[in-house]
Order: sequence, then C-alpha cells, then structure tokens
Amino acid sequence: MSDSNEKPVLVVLSGAGISRESGLKTFRDGDGLWEGHDVMQVATPEAWRADPELVLEFYNQRRRQLDEVEPNAAHRALAALEEVFDVRIVTQNVDDLHERAGSTQVLHLHGELRVVRPEDDPGLVSDEWIKVGGPELPGPDVVLGDTDERGVQLRPHVVWFGEAVPMIEAAAETVAQADVLLVVGTSMQVYPAAGLIHYAPADCRVAMVNPDPESVRGFESVVHDFIVAPASEGVVQWADRLQQERG
Ligand code: APR
Repeated sequence: MSDSNEKPVLVVLSGAGISRESGLKTFRDGDGLWEGHDVMQVATPEAWRADPELVLEFYNQRRRQLDEVEPNAAHRALAALEEVFDVRIVTQNVDDLHERAGSTQVLHLHGELRVVRPEDDPGLVSDEWIKVGGPELPGPDVVLGDTDERGVQLRPHVVWFGEAVPMIEAAAETVAQADVLLVVGTSMQVYPAAGLIHYAPADCRVAMVNPDPESVRGFESVVHDFIVAPASEGVVQWADRLQQERG
C-alpha cells in the first residue's frame, strides 16, 4: 500500500492486446499461428536447439517490425497517468511501446525484443545482457556467430514456452503494492502471469479492458470494472474517469 504523502500506486498488467491497434498481432486471436509461424517452431528451447538460425531470424523480423509501429492511445494514456499516479507497468509484451509512449517503470515479464543474452544465462543476470542497437551489437539483426566476450552465442532475451519466468516474484511484489490495478489486452490464459491478479490487496480496485468478454471468465470475482472495448478506447475512457475521481 502506498504512503499517504506519495502518489497512489497504479499497477497495469498488459498483454498483446494493448499493442494490437499499433499493428502487432496477438497470440490467441487468429489462426493459431504467431505472425505466420507455429510457436513451437520459433519460441521454445527445443526450437532453439533444433534450428537456431530460424529462431534468430523470426526474432529479427519481430525486431524490424518494431521500427514500423508506434505506441497507440492506450500506451500514451498510461504514460500520462504518471502525473497523478505512481504507475508501474508489468507487461507480458516483448515490444517497447510502453517505454516509447513515455512510461518510466516497465517490468517485462516475458523479456524484451531489443535485448539478447548469452545462451547459457538463465535470464537472471541483467548486467550481462546486451542491447540490440547498442555499441556492442548495432542490430537490428542478430545472427549465428554473434557472441559475448567468452564466445557464447547470443539468444533472444525472451521467455519461451516451457521456460521459467524469473521476474515473476518481482512482478507479484509490484501487484501487492497496488492501490488500483488495470488488466488490459491479455487473454489471462498463460500462467504464472495470469495468476498475478490474485496478488492485488483486498481493497485494491481492479479494472479490466478487453473487447472480448470471454477474457474475464474465471476472474469475475476479482474484477470490479470490466470495460468491453479495444484498448485505445477503453483505457482512455477508464483513465479519464480515474483522473476525475482522484485528480
Ligand atoms: N485492445 C485490447 N485487447 C485486445 C485488443 C484490443 N484492441 N484486441 C485483442 N485484445 C485481447 C484479446 O481479446 C485477448 O484477450 O487481447 C488478448 C490477447 O490475448 P493473447 O493473444 O493470449 O496475448 P497475451 O495474453 O498477452 O499472451 C500471453 O502468451 O504466448 C505467450 O508469451 C506470450 O506474453 C504472451 C503470453
């Protein structure tokens, strides 16, 4: 819970749906493929062992795509709320649209497209990670043979299916501090991320924005305000209302 002299803490749990209107596809809305690929062939440790070149190229494409898209009104509304709230974003997204909209506290639960790490690093040691586009690795592409100073191949800093989620405890601690919680653009089907909602304190008001009412199924008892709308409309409306109430 926040100190009364400080800004109230607003925690946001975001998923692929918040970036949909920026032009990035979600995982579970379409044909079962992710940007035309079977996820098991591009986003698992087995895929990395079987065909690292294909996996690197898949993430190279995703990284190049980032340069073609912009944050949308929902990302921007959350960044603007920093004037009134201590806004802490916990995102399942590997894009950087929250940061580019101006949010300053963003925890990436499932990694970041613009970061790579040595393939023997379990994803915990942040000072060994390498920014794609930085001096060590100009990017945007990462290829076989791009290594750290020990000669260990670099891999995407992304949590693949079947891998542990090292940031989950930090995320749960963040949610436990929330005065207000917003869940936006996530199907709430992937654990442990979906379980984070249960770490909200008992007196925390919980809102969810999603155009698909099915997404709230199973979470009815913990969500107080369900806004059935795409993120750009729903988050903006909700943020306006919140600012009027608290501003
Ligand atoms: N605005 C808000 N929500 C939207 C929009 C929109 N414009 N369009 C779609 N959605 C909603 C869908 O209704 C769905 O509930 O976004 C959600 C997207 O769900 P998923 O594709 O399952 O994405 P997400 O919940 O982020 O997936 C979680 O699964 O495979 C992984 O690691 C990957 O982080 C990802 C995780």
